[in-house]
Amino acid sequence: MVVFVGGELEPTLLYVLLEIATNRILNTTKKFFMTDNLIMRQPIVQAISLAKQVRNSEIQLTILQDINLDVNAGEAVSIVGASGSGKSTLLGLLAGLDTPTSGKVYLNGKDIFALNEDERAELRGSMLGFVFQSFQLLPMLTAVENVMLPLELAGTNNAHTVALELLERVGLDMRLKHYPKQLSGGEQQRVAIARAYVTSPKLLLADEPTGNLDLATGSQIIDLMFELNRERGATLILVTHDEAISSRCTRQIHLVGGKLNAD
Ligand SMILES: Nc1ncnc2c1ncn2[C@@H]1O[C@H](COP(=O)(O)OP(=O)(O)OP(=O)(O)O)[C@@H](O)[C@H]1O
Ligand SMILES: [Mg+2]
Repeated sequence: MVVFVGGELEPTLLYVLLEIATNRILNTTKKFFMTDNLIMRQPIVQAISLAKQVRNSEIQLTILQDINLDVNAGEAVSIVGASGSGKSTLLGLLAGLDTPTSGKVYLNGKDIFALNEDERAELRGSMLGFVFQSFQLLPMLTAVENVMLPLELAGTNNAHTVALELLERVGLDMRLKHYPKQLSGGEQQRVAIARAYVTSPKLLLADEPTGNLDLATGSQIIDLMFELNRERGATLILVTHDEAISSRCTRQIHLVGGKLNAD
């Protein structure tokens, strides 16, 4: 603290001191509220009265209704339910890849549907990884290029080094220059997981990541995702039909006909 005794302060100096003090207060406040959700205990994902309807010719179809969900940082949550119950639709809404008919989704406290498309993409890029059932690798890029892509889009300059580390982590350092069609299903999914984790996301959403894999490969992939969940404290929301995988999660959420039935 600075104490001035006697004399008058020059107006410009006074202004600068005020500016510094204000910034300090703002930064301290920001740190207090932003400390990885610990202080505010703000859920990393929050869905409020989420609903999705689609109109097919004359028929209005309700895919999801009245979905209320809080997921805290570090949790591993499984979403289970029959085929057609709305799991993929819900995951797409939580990632802001699809828009709801009504309701809100907050990611790290930000109302994602109040953001414009660019802002939403930026928020996704800064905190979220998504693993699709069908891998969704870019066919014209090699394994390492696919993994580097999110970092390059974010303007990171050590993309190659980080991508190599991740591909080594998923056991694919011998397949760096392979194109997706030259990789097996399990290898492609491991590339997809490396790509999803390369930006160190706080949140990973995975839609049946082992749905297209044999049992042994699938369980390797799942082990890897739980390891990364533990090691990095990355929150995991996992859609699965597999009861054994689901039971490894800290919490199970059941979707029945588009409605949530939490455990
Ligand atoms: N754009 C759309 N237009 C019409 N119906 C849709 C649309 N998207 C999804 N649906 C329907 O909504 C329901 C839920 O779809 P969703 O893909 O979310 O199910 P799911 O629980 O992921 O199923 P699965 O386990 O088979 O992957 C399905 O009956 C599907 O046919
Ligand atoms: Mg699905």
